[in-house]
Amino acid sequence: MKIILAPMEGVVDHLMRDMLTRIGGYDLCITEFIRIVDQKLPARVFTRFCPELQNGGKTVAGTPVRVQLLGQDPNWLAENAVRAVELGSPGVDLNFGCPAKTVNKSRGGAVLLKETEQLYLIVKAVRDAVPAQFPVSAKIRLGYDDTSLTLANAAAIASAGASMLTVHARTKSDGYRPPAYWPWIARIKQQTDIPLVANGEIWNAADAALCQQQANCSDIMLGRGALAMPNLAQSIRSGAAAMPWPQVLELLMRYSEFEINGDKGQYYANRIKQWFSYLKLQYPQAADLFQQLRVLRKSSDILATLNQALLHSQHA
Ligand SMILES: Cc1cc2nc3c(=O)[nH]c(=O)nc-3n(C[C@H](O)[C@H](O)[C@H](O)COP(=O)(O)O)c2cc1C
Repeated sequence: MKIILAPMEGVVDHLMRDMLTRIGGYDLCITEFIRIVDQKLPARVFTRFCPELQNGGKTVAGTPVRVQLLGQDPNWLAENAVRAVELGSPGVDLNFGCPAKTVNKSRGGAVLLKETEQLYLIVKAVRDAVPAQFPVSAKIRLGYDDTSLTLANAAAIASAGASMLTVHARTKSDGYRPPAYWPWIARIKQQTDIPLVANGEIWNAADAALCQQQANCSDIMLGRGALAMPNLAQSIRSGAAAMPWPQVLELLMRYSEFEINGDKGQYYANRIKQWFSYLKLQYPQAADLFQQLRVLRKSSDILATLNQALLHSQHA
């Protein structure tokens, strides 16, 4: 079983990857998408999204981090993919699942799921350009509005030479509404010869087991669940209980200190609030604390509130 930490724009940055891979259980991380339009991006853009490139393409804990690209132009994607691996990314992942309007308007992300031939051309161009020893993977949803092209799209991506396909088992129109249609992954597997990774709606070890069974697929990718339960990968591997709340608070403090002092300090308040929106699903204490944090804008106020909660939990 491989467990992959999902790419999540605006949430899973290098600090989050650092923390979650230190807790352990992950075999691979995928970065937030880097949008490619009509140029070869400078190295600094790649290292901003993936500072791990300066650490041999791995997190501090040693987990490989693969750069994800999003775009619609095969040649520009290929050129940037080559640059990503030259800079140290252990492979490249291609995003064909992003539902964002701005991205889809410029024919990137999920809208490409309506264009099977274009999917093929993109994967083929990137695969042909990137040296063979580096994996080129892709991530799809089941479709844009419906599942009429699911099997054709998976087959196109496989025949273009992709080495792995992650399937978020919902259409773009389904958004993030449960359920995820895991049996669709088993259908893809029956028809298409490519290593698959099942993704969507895995929140605990029982979900993971059911997903693996219904998808007939042992490799899984964890997104929001990984944020709701920071030790989810370990829990799936060993049956461990959810990390106790005081330990989560310590993580929150560590994340805050890094994030505030890092290059993206201005995003801290939003990022921590977004993380809370997932923690609330697992920890009732997070819901209470979020009530206090919600109205705070200044990093120092948020940090002080977290600190207080930590002290309180240690003396409880
Ligand atoms: C806030 C947010 C940001 C995301 N950003 C990306 C992204 O940059 N690239 C991508 O391929 N998927 C992205 N996704 C989709 C996730 O990788 C994953 O496929 C989806 O959340 C379903 O998995 P889950 O149910 O385990 O969360 C994002 C999802 C969320 C909620």
